[in-house]
Amino acid sequence: MPLRPRKLIRKMRGGAQAHLLECEDNGFYVVKFLNNPQHRRILINEWLSNFFLRYLQVHVPDTALIEVGADFIAENPDLYFSMGSRKEPVQAGLHFGSRLAVHPDRVAIFDFLPDKLLGKVENRVDFLGTLVFDKWVGNADSRQAVFFRARAKTWTPLKGDAPNRIGFLAQMIDHGFAFNGPHWTFGDSPLQGLYFRTSVYEEVRSLDSFQPWLDLVSHFPVEVVDSAWKEIPRAWVQEDEAALEELLDTLLKRRKRVVSLIGDVRGKRASAFPNWR
Ligand SMILES: Nc1ncnc2c1ncn2[C@@H]1O[C@H](COP(=O)(O)OP(=O)(O)OP(=O)(O)O)[C@@H](O)[C@H]1O
Ligand SMILES: [Mg+2]
Repeated sequence: MPLRPRKLIRKMRGGAQAHLLECEDNGFYVVKFLNNPQHRRILINEWLSNFFLRYLQVHVPDTALIEVGADFIAENPDLYFSMGSRKEPVQAGLHFGSRLAVHPDRVAIFDFLPDKLLGKVENRVDFLGTLVFDKWVGNADSRQAVFFRARAKTWTPLKGDAPNRIGFLAQMIDHGFAFNGPHWTFGDSPLQGLYFRTSVYEEVRSLDSFQPWLDLVSHFPVEVVDSAWKEIPRAWVQEDEAALEELLDTLLKRRKRVVSLIGDVRGKRASAFPNWR
């Protein structure tokens, strides 16, 4: 069921000009709108990526369809896109929402952590799983994450123990440029998709360090891709029905390539994995 917004909180930074909305479920959502300045396809990329990452048990935010009505838009003159000096209105309809894991007035959410704290992130290993994912989907952007202190409730690690204490957790965000953003192509430049602080890759000692994600992606179930596809609102797809089918087809054909794509990263920048000898 789509959620309705209750209150506009503020505009977020970034090229998609997302806005933070408090919704009827009392959740706070960073909402990317269908007519955002980047492209309509950004929403599909976000939807698919979050779905797939959830299957890979990488910690991602809950997501939802956010239904913004004409009345909400009329009541909130601060809700618009800045196109140079021009204001572009947000269209009414179904949009993509990424839920904040914590109440933004009670718990600080950070876009970056200093290296020392980054080393203490409970689910640091998720950066390895996400790299496998980013290589698979040809994420043309650098890896992005948010951090906050919490007890891991919604996240079960595939590797290591579930931390039962309060600590820093990372959630992977911003998948607008999976599939090369609006282009739906795979450039496969070796350095794309890496996190800007390579200390998160310190525990990589061999290709094996990327397990179980290498195996999970290599054998990624067609059924999961199908379920993700079925959930995409048709209003997002529009005339892209055939292009979307082709994209997902290509994605399935690429499953087995992740091993060599990870190898390409090492070939291009061995320093990204200082302990892989
Ligand atoms: N689930 C979330 N929890 C907390 N903060 C979030 C969440 N999703 C997005 N944000 C915040 O909103 C900002 C904008 O989101 P995002 O990076 O996805 O937008 P973007 O417009 O695609 O950015 P870019 O210009 O990097 O492509 C992020 O930098 C982050 O601070
Ligand atoms: Mg971003």
